[in-house]
Amino acid sequence: MRMSSSIASIGIGIVGSLCTPAPLPADETPAAAQVKLREQVGDRLLIGAAIDARMLDNPAYANLVATQYNSITAGNEMKPDALQKVKGTFTFDRADRMVDFAQKNKMAVVGHTLLWHSQCPKWLFEDESGKPLSREEALENLRTHITTVVKHFKGRVIGWDVVNEALSDAPNEYLRDTPARRAIGDDYIIQAFRFAHEADPDVELYYNDYNIEADYKLPKAVRLIQELQAANVRLDGIGIQGHWLIAHPEMAELERGFAVLAATGVKLMVTEVDVDPLPRRRAGADVNASEAGQNPYLDKLPPEVDAALAKRYGQLFDLMVKYANEGKLSRITLWGVDDGTSWLNDWPVRGRTNHALLFDRQHKPKAAFFAVSKSLSAIKP
Ligand code: G3I
Repeated sequence: MRMSSSIASIGIGIVGSLCTPAPLPADETPAAAQVKLREQVGDRLLIGAAIDARMLDNPAYANLVATQYNSITAGNEMKPDALQKVKGTFTFDRADRMVDFAQKNKMAVVGHTLLWHSQCPKWLFEDESGKPLSREEALENLRTHITTVVKHFKGRVIGWDVVNEALSDAPNEYLRDTPARRAIGDDYIIQAFRFAHEADPDVELYYNDYNIEADYKLPKAVRLIQELQAANVRLDGIGIQGHWLIAHPEMAELERGFAVLAATGVKLMVTEVDVDPLPRRRAGADVNASEAGQNPYLDKLPPEVDAALAKRYGQLFDLMVKYANEGKLSRITLWGVDDGTSWLNDWPVRGRTNHALLFDRQHKPKAAFFAVSKSLSAIKP
């Protein structure tokens, strides 16, 4: 299967041992201990979670991550504003800590992200008055950032989300209007991929975005993939973020989107899965958006909503497992570990009590966890 090349390139000596994590401190969460997703999938699939470096100080959290997942993504610690907030000053300590944790527990690390319009320091592409830098200056800043970061993590990160969320959500607009694009031009995406490949020819390179499997954005995603392929840049994977709701998008739309994206020949990865059970108007994950809304489930989900969430997770994982079994999908990553630390507690409505992940606030596995586990049991040897 194609995913094995991804696993083989992890570069931290874990080939053949993804299902045997290092011994952990004794306080493993008892309820979660019985089923371990990483043991279920072995080396046939990367199953991961986005984690928060500060949370690694919590042994229960660290244990849960290390026992359930064979890969991690940094939720925030590898973004440009975390690594080079001030021009020329790189701060790798928190990200390094995560990588050390992953290596100790025989987990792969996905780099997220070299370039995104959010969490990106202004100086990279704008002068002090907010005007775009010259193309040359902006390209030089981008090259320095990408080169330094990619070289720093060389051999310890399997692949990079090189560019994140560059596609526009607007009906008649292809690319999002961003500071990088204003300064460099439409080829900023291609340039970012070239800089990353030059810095580490062995590392995998991905494009990552939300709603690209949805009808309205799918043609733009295909166009971008084809443009990157035509430009001959290295493109190993397309990251479907997977910020979904219980009833939206419908499975038929997702199935269409997966099929069209897989037909481009690029490996699929589902990189930021969560399923929002709370009411909201918008789909996807545009961090610039916000809305007012109710906070209906202050304690836990009512049984019927909990069951609907589990059913939806099962259907989604069935679809992903199908693609994994066909050798077209190599990784599934949850965007967070437990409901208490999910970004959906603050988006698109601030300060809600959300329940979108597999583990509750006490790290107990929810019905959704067992639905996912059931789907993963169909992964072929
Ligand atoms: O680090 C500061 C902390 O010092 C301060 O006390 C605190 C006060 O609010 O804020 C902290 O920063 C927050 C940061 O997460 C780290 O926790 C920011 O306010 C908050 O906006 C930021 O949110 C992150 C979001 O990206 C920002 O755009 C989420 O954690 C992160 O999960 C989310 O991840 C994105 C992916 O990268 C791309 N796809 C969408 C996904 C969800 O938005």
